[in-house]
Amino acid sequence: MTYANPLLHKPSRGLPKRVVIIGAGTIGPDIGYYLKSAIPDLKLHLVDIAQAPLDRALERFKSYAAKGVERGRLSESQAREVTQGVHASLDYAVARDADWVIEAATEGIALKRKIFARLEEIVRPQTIITSNTSSLPAERIFADLSNKQRATVTHFFAPAWRNAIVEVVRWSGAGAGLIDDLNWLFCMTGKVPLNTADVPCFMLDRIFDNWCNDAALLLERASAAEIDSIAAEFVHAGPFRVLNLANGNPIIIETNTLQADEEGEHYRPAPILRSVETWRTAGPRPPPLAGEGRVGGEVSGETKSAVRDRLLAILISQTVDILDRKIGEAGDLDLGCRLALGFRSGPLELMRGIGASEVSRIMARGREERPGLPQPRRAVGDYQDFLRYVLVDEIGDVKVITLRRPEALNALNDELTDEILSVLRRFEDDAAVRGFVLTGYGPRSFCAGADIGRFPVMLGDAQAAAQYARDCARLLVHMDGMQKPIIAALNGMALGGGLEMALRCHRIVAMRGAMLQLPEILLGIVPGLGGMVVPYRRWPKAAAAFHNMICRAQRVPAKTAHSWGMVDALVDDHASLFEAAIARVQALSGTPLRDRFAAGPLSIDSPGNIEPVAENGLHLSPEVAALARQAIVEAAAAPNLDTALELGYRAFGKSACTAAAREGIEAFLQRRPADFSKTG
Ligand code: COA
Repeated sequence: MTYANPLLHKPSRGLPKRVVIIGAGTIGPDIGYYLKSAIPDLKLHLVDIAQAPLDRALERFKSYAAKGVERGRLSESQAREVTQGVHASLDYAVARDADWVIEAATEGIALKRKIFARLEEIVRPQTIITSNTSSLPAERIFADLSNKQRATVTHFFAPAWRNAIVEVVRWSGAGAGLIDDLNWLFCMTGKVPLNTADVPCFMLDRIFDNWCNDAALLLERASAAEIDSIAAEFVHAGPFRVLNLANGNPIIIETNTLQADEEGEHYRPAPILRSVETWRTAGPRPPPLAGEGRVGGEVSGETKSAVRDRLLAILISQTVDILDRKIGEAGDLDLGCRLALGFRSGPLELMRGIGASEVSRIMARGREERPGLPQPRRAVGDYQDFLRYVLVDEIGDVKVITLRRPEALNALNDELTDEILSVLRRFEDDAAVRGFVLTGYGPRSFCAGADIGRFPVMLGDAQAAAQYARDCARLLVHMDGMQKPIIAALNGMALGGGLEMALRCHRIVAMRGAMLQLPEILLGIVPGLGGMVVPYRRWPKAAAAFHNMICRAQRVPAKTAHSWGMVDALVDDHASLFEAAIARVQALSGTPLRDRFAAGPLSIDSPGNIEPVAENGLHLSPEVAALARQAIVEAAAAPNLDTALELGYRAFGKSACTAAAREGIEAFLQRRPADFSKTG
């Protein structure tokens, strides 16, 4: 059974202990550095045919670790762990007892086949073999292997130690469970695996390579610098700048020749790619402001629109082709383009923004200028019918909804909460569905709260901020009234709005290492989605602890929350987490779901005068702490839940008007510590 959330899979093997990487160029050592960072006790061998690249690779490990320490991302001891146990070798024999061999040699089918033939003579039967090819289908590179079942393509993106995306190719030769095991492994180690079909260039490089190739064809209309400047509306770095950085011209020639030979002349590489080494272009630019009208600098309006239309046409063409041929999933495509390729928004997002008629106009022009390029095979609007931020899996008669915004630790935005709501509404009345499990993508975070990027616009406007809280809470209020059980499975930290959402579920189960926190006061605001109301109405005996969570942002280990009865079960691994959640759905299903919140006014201990100092010693805003204390007391005295929740929304609105909110939110977005000393 294949799941969209990789951690629902029960792997047949654990994390690797010994990995060999063939090829010590750029990406090989970067892959190694990611693996050592994620699995510090891993034994890693880098293999190459020459000593010099190996020496450089070991130096690179040291310099990455040193930078990590310098930037406060790694402790000295973590840095030591990352660089220890890394060996360089000229001999393939080190692969003898490897759990996994990753080939990251130069692109070329003959060379890769030679490497795999040699490896197959050495490795154990259970060793996984993967290639980091960016373009060559698995069918071809593994054609001569006698044991194909343990092999596939795992395609990383630069810089591989930090770029979260990895394409994992589902091909017919891979054995049962191999791809799911690899998805699990990547997800457990902080990556976001995206599965693709076994076609030339897989999914994301079909976008990237053709985007670059068409940019090169456009040089008859505009210069490289002008094209990069026009492309800045869509990407953080234009095609020519990226080609310079990646030394990418030969790669585009190779991969587009492959696509042209397989799929048609329209993919033939632009001849100029063969005669130029470095493009004259500027660095990345900020996106143009709306209405600025200077997108291409001094580029004429006509040239600008021709270049822009073509860039969009190639993007849309590849997008619809990938979806129509089922090369990859829509949500994966948008996510991958943003995280792996540096697009400001995914291509489907872009298509939605420009609208169906504009897409049709651009594609009609594209058809004339670039005959042969794939065109939409369905109505343009049909391509928009997918979930962008949640994954939905089925385990028996239970729907598992996974929040997936890996770039923001699964923080909630409007669309994400709307998507959860739409899934609940869709299946609530379906007799074949017993209930729901809500979890977060990856091993680290259930949900990091509401998206702080959205906050600045409502600062200073109490009504708008209160309305924002009310709108965000629509999902939570809906959950309150659900007649089918919904269980929160805390795979990692549950913060702010994420915790407030979990608190509305019928039960919470958690990984033993999970952490719960209402960190809003660190941002100069109060929790607005029921955080000052619901805990008291469900577990009133722990009221004193909730005061500290709200007024001092105290972190609570899942174990402590378990002792209050807030967390119903603690587990040690993901398989047990989901089993525990599903078991609770089954147990509650069909039983009357009693109201889980105390109805009338509550009698709780007063928060008194808790000193507004956070655990790390940061002095918090006394004004915001006072707002929180007042809201807690008034909400407890409220005659019913609705009134109490409304008091919470309004208190949030008031807090958004404080100087502390301005400082706290600005500090987070500027990645600096907040200073509330002058804010009151
Ligand atoms: N909203 C928007 N983005 C968020 C987010 C949120 N609530 N929480 C985390 N992110 C983003 C970060 O900005 C960062 O993005 P970047 O890589 O583009 O800079 C990314 O997620 C990873 O987080 P980062 O802060 O780099 O990880 P960390 O390990 O250093 O810290 C936390 C983890 C959870 C302590 C920290 O992210 C945090 O304090 N987040 C805010 C939590 C919060 O206050 N939630 C309540 C909101 S009301």
